[in-house]
Amino acid sequence: MSSVPDHYEMHLAPVYSWMAGGIENAVARGQQELADIGLLDGGAGYAVDLGAGFGMHAIPLSRNGCNVLAIDTSAFLLNELKDYAGDTPVVTVQDDLFNFAGHLSDRPDVVLCMGDTLTHLPGLSPVTALISSVSEHLSQGGRFVITFRDYTRALEGTDRFIPVKSDASRISTCFLEYAGDTVRVHDILQERIEGSWVMRVSAYQKLRLDPVWIKQQFERCGFVVNLGAGLSGMVRIIAFKD
Ligand SMILES: C[S@@+](CC[C@H](N)C(=O)[O-])C[C@H]1O[C@@H](n2cnc3c(N)ncnc32)[C@H](O)[C@@H]1O
Repeated sequence: MSSVPDHYEMHLAPVYSWMAGGIENAVARGQQELADIGLLDGGAGYAVDLGAGFGMHAIPLSRNGCNVLAIDTSAFLLNELKDYAGDTPVVTVQDDLFNFAGHLSDRPDVVLCMGDTLTHLPGLSPVTALISSVSEHLSQGGRFVITFRDYTRALEGTDRFIPVKSDASRISTCFLEYAGDTVRVHDILQERIEGSWVMRVSAYQKLRLDPVWIKQQFERCGFVVNLGAGLSGMVRIIAFKD
């Protein structure tokens, strides 16, 4: 099994924007998602995007005049983000998201950890530690928004094979293997190269996070929490710091 950074750098990152339907489409979806939450209403501010990827949410925020700190371990995805962000006010940092506080230039008004990034963390204690650290650094009245997949109900049999994306020259499929508090995610990529299909497989571990437990962790840190549905079947938590 690969570490999360290796899984992205050696397997997922080069095809990640393709899997998301192209950067332009994904950023348009991110923009709509942020608009629905009301994060594009307030004009400029300071935001941190933890596990920013190619910038599905960082770019709409920076285009709206917000100063954005985008942190990710993937150099490949951060380069895509920089290229697509143009001269909008986004700073990219290649680092573990747990180190976000060391890169802050101010107290953020908004912290994002979206698109299932939270499930990539190495355990439940790191999840609570992250929520607590964001709570310490967020400005008064600030918001911490997370979206993640609920893997608590184990799929069975052939339901564990999930078609992700395909076209004439690529097929991406996911296979899920459940084990206690975690699920092993096998990403299977088949690519047509010089007339033949070539398959590459890489696996990494994700957490099976219970949305109610996550809500309680936010409340323990003094957040007022709104738990609801996000994009593409994800759970969305909007946490307000009073
Ligand atoms: C599923 S993608 C989501 C990307 C983006 N937030 C979105 O919604 O499109 C998860 C991202 O988190 C990054 N990531 C995972 N664990 C990380 C960590 N501990 N520190 C920094 N980045 C991390 C990965 O490299 C990847 O870009």
